[in-house]
Amino acid sequence: MNNVYFIGAGPGDPDLITVKGRNIIEKSDIIIYAGSLVNKEIIECRRKESTLYNSASMTLEEVIKVIEEGVKEDKLIARVHTGDPSIYGAIREQIDWLEDLGISSKVIPGVSSFVASAAALNKEFTLPDISQTVICTRLEGRTPVPESESLDKLASHKASMAIFLSVHMIDNVVSRLMKHYDKDTPVAVIQKATWDDQKIVQGKLSNISDKVKEANINKTAQILVGDFLGDKYSLSKLYDASFSHGYRKAKK
Ligand SMILES: C[S@@+](CC[C@H](N)C(=O)[O-])C[C@H]1O[C@@H](n2cnc3c(N)ncnc32)[C@H](O)[C@@H]1O
Repeated sequence: MNNVYFIGAGPGDPDLITVKGRNIIEKSDIIIYAGSLVNKEIIECRRKESTLYNSASMTLEEVIKVIEEGVKEDKLIARVHTGDPSIYGAIREQIDWLEDLGISSKVIPGVSSFVASAAALNKEFTLPDISQTVICTRLEGRTPVPESESLDKLASHKASMAIFLSVHMIDNVVSRLMKHYDKDTPVAVIQKATWDDQKIVQGKLSNISDKVKEANINKTAQILVGDFLGDKYSLSKLYDASFSHGYRKAKK
């Protein structure tokens, strides 16, 4: 049996963790959760005898040590990350270190904050004749971004974009995007999507910076950009009555 699970906790709403993820947390002996972003209500379902660690104040070495010791004692361990752990989750370094120690692990996906943010707006990233591509990215901070993926370069595609970890640099984000997107391109900034204190600010590239500052949003936010937030698009072929596909014949 597997002892170590990396679990996506979802964006914040405790009902947005998967059933599989919650079942593992309920049974776990050790829970290590990313306390800076994971809603604590999500781990309230844990057994009262379980041991809880908040990784916000731990180093990678300390996290690995807790897992290693737990595995030696045949404990079930839930490592709980925010959103989906495969996006800015820093799980790869944990998985690889554990593998070097002969410890295998499994990842349980979660609802990433970028899709939760689109949901908060009732929007779809991939609209026919508008965009069929979603770019998830960030502005460089203390963590560099490869030059080939600089925001100005990505902006040249004018695709639907979800920008993580960057709202505190909104002026810089806007000036890079404006190199390619029109100044009237719609933008939405969603802070703490799905939490009770979720905030949404909507505007266009030319005025979003002021709106974000007025709303005092400087962390835990998604910046969604692109014409998918606008009102023009074509209808899908999938439900087009004159279009046949594997599951439906076109109506004459
Ligand atoms: C370290 S990354 C983790 C992302 C996470 N793995 C995910 O899939 O959403 C943290 C960043 O994700 C975004 N984020 C996380 N939770 C959020 C939420 N509930 N609403 C909006 N943005 C969120 C913010 O940009 C934040 O700075």
